[in-house]
Amino acid sequence: MTLQLGDTVPDFEAQTTEGPMRFYDWAGESWVVLFSHPKNFTPVCTTELGAVAKLKPEFGRRNVKVIGLSVDAVDDHHRWAEDIRETQTAALNFPLIADHDRRVSDLYGMIHPNANDTLTVRSVFVIDPAKKLRLTLTYPASTGRNFTEILRVIDSLQLTDQHSVATPADWQQGQDVIIVPSLSDEEAKKRFPKGWRALKPYLRVTPQPGS
Ligand code: BEZ
Repeated sequence: MTLQLGDTVPDFEAQTTEGPMRFYDWAGESWVVLFSHPKNFTPVCTTELGAVAKLKPEFGRRNVKVIGLSVDAVDDHHRWAEDIRETQTAALNFPLIADHDRRVSDLYGMIHPNANDTLTVRSVFVIDPAKKLRLTLTYPASTGRNFTEILRVIDSLQLTDQHSVATPADWQQGQDVIIVPSLSDEEAKKRFPKGWRALKPYLRVTPQPGS
């Protein structure tokens, strides 16, 4: 079954570079970015894990835990971590799931047989503290992901969970946002004391709340 936005994600037990874990217990009250990569000791994956390690403080600031996964064994993960440290000027600082029996990959639909019937694709799952799925991304093996974009989406999710707003194309933290069309002007007057510009009745732009 394909996981869809709003679904409660399944719990699982797994071996990781930081020992055995039960996913829900590990996640606790945090947001989670769970991402798969196709294979250890491959170039694009090596750069991705270095990129995530460098961004870990940014994820932490947003109450987000990160966890990677591939179908390789945990000993392989540890050996590969040495290469990551050597080549990416960043040490692996988050757990990697060793999903050699593909239990988690199958549970989350990370193997797309028509792309590759044994390796995971580059999946991303953003999961909120209620264990609801809030974002999925699927990239091919040949394209490394932009993890800064994932941070940007998390900023948007966390903001729009708190206020009756949505964020426009290419929005960045601190920029103007859009008042959701379901909110009447009457209600908007109470919630957005700084006012708004109405480009259309359905397109009302207001400063980011709290900025
Ligand atoms: C890579 O990470 O470089 C890679 C992995 C699997 C297939 C192609 C590229």
